[in-house]
Amino acid sequence: MAKITPIEFKVFSKYIFDVCGITLKEGKEYLIETRLSPLLEKHGCVSFSEIYYKARRDKDLEKEIIDAISTNETFFFRDVTPFEVLQHKILPDLIDKRGRSLRPGARIPIRILSLGCSTGQEVYTITFVLRALGLGTDMYDIRLIGVDVSNAAIAKASYGVYSEFELSRGLSPAQISQYFLKLDENRWKVKDEYRWLATFETHNIFDTSKDLGRFDIIFCRNVGIYFSPIDRIKMYEKIAAMLEPDGYLLIGATESLTYDTDRFVPKKYLRAVFYQPNPAVTG
Ligand SMILES: C[S@@+](CC[C@H](N)C(=O)[O-])C[C@H]1O[C@@H](n2cnc3c(N)ncnc32)[C@H](O)[C@@H]1O
Repeated sequence: MAKITPIEFKVFSKYIFDVCGITLKEGKEYLIETRLSPLLEKHGCVSFSEIYYKARRDKDLEKEIIDAISTNETFFFRDVTPFEVLQHKILPDLIDKRGRSLRPGARIPIRILSLGCSTGQEVYTITFVLRALGLGTDMYDIRLIGVDVSNAAIAKASYGVYSEFELSRGLSPAQISQYFLKLDENRWKVKDEYRWLATFETHNIFDTSKDLGRFDIIFCRNVGIYFSPIDRIKMYEKIAAMLEPDGYLLIGATESLTYDTDRFVPKKYLRAVFYQPNPAVTG
């Protein structure tokens, strides 16, 4: 495996930060070495300086580097409680609120964003919940979008095909046959009735050139943990701007907003915590 020098690490970690916002502090040399050594070999580079200069001129290589560095760990029904609160509190309340202000017969709009959706498990779990509540596109105008900075993750999410191992992390055998079609010994595809509720797009949270629109519900779980405190603050400012004033934010089980933003107030529902915009703080 190639070794990264201290100067290369400085240059490379700044580069990674500039292209996708991920902070690699000193001590993370091994992460660059283990994740990028296969790319050095593939592109015939003998050092991290060489691949760095190549990547500066080659957007495809840059994407490969982002894919290799981003940590895409995810699974179906991760942490469970966000999906319980979505099903039993957030969606019923939202439908009630939105339904009241619509003319009779109009479809109720529901806009959901998964920021840093990785390979799609979070988004498909949301589709399982939507379907469990009987929500389809006949009575509801649903926009469910998953975005991630990693092209490879988005390609896999869009494809909607998972291995036996990926399904076994979070799903029971009964759920697997309810939500998936078996393609062969080790591959299962999300059934169309769930698949077509979701769309996916490659997007960097810090990209200011693209507006994703406004949302009623935003999932942003286990993404901010890779950013510096300053970038997390920036990220939550962006989320505050995208979320409806009565919208809902769900963060990861090990995350907290306490030191990063006062833009949201926590609310408790059974054993779950979700956040809503703080009416006392506006941008
Ligand atoms: C650990 S995964 C979390 C996946 C899912 N939200 C969950 O909790 O199971 C973090 C994801 O954030 C994505 N990510 C990192 N930096 C990003 C950025 N600047 N913009 C968009 N996505 C980013 C990574 O590519 C990765 O797929």
